[in-house]
Amino acid sequence: MAAKKASIKTAEVPGPKSVELGKLKEKYISKAIGIGQPAYIEKAEGSLITDIDGNVFIDMGSGIGVMNVGHSNKEVVNAIKKQAEKFVHTCFMVVPYEGYVRLAEKLANVAPHKGLSKSGLFNSGAEAVENSVKISRHYTKKPAAFSFTHAFHGRTFLAMALTSKEMPYKAGFGPLPESYKVEFAYCYRCPFKMEYPSCGVACADKIDEIWSSKEFEGKVACLVGEPIPGEGGFIVPPKEFYAKITKYCKKHGIIYVDDEIQTGAGRTGKMWCVEHWPGVEPDLLVSGKGIGGGFPVSAVTGRPEIMDAPQIGGLGGTFGGNPVACAAALAQFPIIENSMKNVPMVNAYMTKRLKEMQSRFRVIGDIRGMGAMMAVELVSDPKSKTPASKETKAIKAAAFKKGMILLTCGTFDNVIRLHPSMIMPADVLEQAMDILEASFEEGTKVQ
Ligand SMILES: Cc1ncc(COP(=O)(O)O)c(C=O)c1O
Repeated sequence: MAAKKASIKTAEVPGPKSVELGKLKEKYISKAIGIGQPAYIEKAEGSLITDIDGNVFIDMGSGIGVMNVGHSNKEVVNAIKKQAEKFVHTCFMVVPYEGYVRLAEKLANVAPHKGLSKSGLFNSGAEAVENSVKISRHYTKKPAAFSFTHAFHGRTFLAMALTSKEMPYKAGFGPLPESYKVEFAYCYRCPFKMEYPSCGVACADKIDEIWSSKEFEGKVACLVGEPIPGEGGFIVPPKEFYAKITKYCKKHGIIYVDDEIQTGAGRTGKMWCVEHWPGVEPDLLVSGKGIGGGFPVSAVTGRPEIMDAPQIGGLGGTFGGNPVACAAALAQFPIIENSMKNVPMVNAYMTKRLKEMQSRFRVIGDIRGMGAMMAVELVSDPKSKTPASKETKAIKAAAFKKGMILLTCGTFDNVIRLHPSMIMPADVLEQAMDILEASFEEGTKVQ
């Protein structure tokens, strides 16, 4: 019978079989490919992962925000099997197939506004981001690509350039393609030392000033922005931020690329996070991670005149929109649509427990997020807001020993992020928050 809760069976975590595989990993895999919690998986179902030593972990990472409807969903697995028995690859550009067309149709139907009607499918998030900039440059015939501080857009060259954090993502890999950064609305650490709402979201106005300058007027192709920077620390901007940003994008003829790779596919309680802010209309929307039910597929979905701008053959790739990935995505979308109703419950419970923990643990500086995407920023002192990165690391390690896969993030490595599936059962969520609380007790004792 499938496990219903986390349980640790081995004396040490990781257990002996995982330790053995870890030795092979050291021998055969680049050190640069790091592992956060080295328990090798045997199987996963719903919100639980069983490792090869028989330990059961609650999955609060969802494979970095991918398994939005949980692991091994029967309908998704059946769709994968069915497609795999028919054919697994032709390359859509060589011999086309229905799944690719149907997934593009679905992406148009679930887009945050009617204008986003055409897609191109790719493999990874980074690849989709790169293509969104290619398309923007081709359409606008302008060179400059902008992104925000605290952004993460992937590990390929341009995506890496658009990414903000130096270590570990950029250090030593330069020279990088040219791109430009503007400040994100990180109110907890306002770069302009202002306070919301009295600031009037002046950070957005400063971006308008930059785009109006001699250096950039008439030269900007696009701004790539995450609604909520994920890797940057689940920073939720004021609700007016993107409304202003899109107004300024329109004013300067700049394409607004909405990177929903982490926030999308229902995770925040709406299909796309940007839908929480009425009137904010992306020109291009980039999706990945959660859309494929665990299979690698990503997309750029946009206004048809923009999507059609590049020459035939200018976009594509051997594997982009793989038929099995399309089948998984198509089977999963209705489940996402149905599961989004659980998100407020998941959010309310996590928020309640985090607030209770904040009154116990001084180290919790900020609690933020949306839907099934909540985070806590840890500081050694609430006044100085010195990042408590050591404690963050220790809490993650303690959670692992107690049976929970936890992710950390943040520009200053001091944010614990909670990324449960949208359908995590109430009793599992309760156990997850119990483990988190116990891990805070243990992890905040470190010196
Ligand atoms: C917002 C965002 N954009 C882009 C990416 C890159 O996606 P991938 O790792 O699939 O290349 C990520 C991955 O974490 C992401 O969170």
